[in-house]
Amino acid sequence: MHKADIPELKKKIDASSKNVSDQASLERFRTEYLGKNGVLTGFLKGLKNAGPEERAFLGGELNNIKSSLEAFIELKTGELKKEELNKKLSSGSADPTLPGINFPVGGIHPLTAVLHEIIEIFSKLGFVCADGPEIETDYYNFEALNFPEEHPARDTHDTFYLDMADGKKDLILRTHTSPVQIRVMKAHNPPLRILIPGRVFRHEATDATHSFVFNQVEGLVVDEKTNFEDLKGNLTVFARKMFGENLNTRFRPSFFPFTEPSAEMDIECIFCAGKGCRICKFTTWLEIMGAGMVHPSVLKAGGYDSEKYTGYAFGMGVERIAILKYGVNDMRLFFENDIKFLRQF
Ligand code: DAH
Repeated sequence: MHKADIPELKKKIDASSKNVSDQASLERFRTEYLGKNGVLTGFLKGLKNAGPEERAFLGGELNNIKSSLEAFIELKTGELKKEELNKKLSSGSADPTLPGINFPVGGIHPLTAVLHEIIEIFSKLGFVCADGPEIETDYYNFEALNFPEEHPARDTHDTFYLDMADGKKDLILRTHTSPVQIRVMKAHNPPLRILIPGRVFRHEATDATHSFVFNQVEGLVVDEKTNFEDLKGNLTVFARKMFGENLNTRFRPSFFPFTEPSAEMDIECIFCAGKGCRICKFTTWLEIMGAGMVHPSVLKAGGYDSEKYTGYAFGMGVERIAILKYGVNDMRLFFENDIKFLRQF
């Protein structure tokens, strides 16, 4: 290869580029010049045998040719693709009205959606969120909440114990979000108006309405003058925002060790509007949460003066609220990750 051969090479490339009319001839053209045994590839390889001055000149020229060849191939590829598509479209062999490919888009899990709704309603009532550990001590989960050791109320909270090196059974998975009441009282001075969402654990068999892991939302208000009327008012506003504006509610006497008096809150059955159905077990009422006035011993355990302060508390299961809100008949559906179920929300 000599300087003088360059114009000849250019002419040859020019001529063969004119023969490119489809993908196959383009590919042939590419291999002829740039392939492993291509003309240009051969020349570039041969450069090492040229003298230094000639090598610089020829190297520059050949690389310019190579760049323009590559640019030509790229341009031509695009043009040919366009041509081919136009041909397909005009011959009717492609249907441009076919729907495109849908990419799956994630959504918010129904439990998360319900939790967000609960938090939003209570935040408009002035509550702020707090949280605490899922692994608790026996003290916070039971003792400080007025469940003494051996108290029968502990039977309703069958617990997972963590194996401790010293054989003691002190660390457990919390059975409710109530222990966070104590933690928050210890960390903050009154007044309090807090909401505590969180995951809780019970050692029980799974069925349509029970699970060994579920979610609760706890509420705690402490102030100098809270009373049962505040409890009823705030919880009724919540229930009506959640389930319907003119909904009737009722508070039934109940028992929790950490509240006195204690109540269960019911809403009128949203499925039969008071006529009686299987879901409300023909009672016309649906239980939605437990509540009560904070027991003086609990205020004391939190370090508060139980003569000066009163409080009310409540606790609800997020799954239960979601079951009622969406009319789901089996709680296990929330944990199975079945897209067919989840898509409906
Ligand atoms: N901790 C109770 C449970 O898991 C629910 C509860 C009832 C919480 C009454 C409260 C309350 O704060 O006042 O069964």
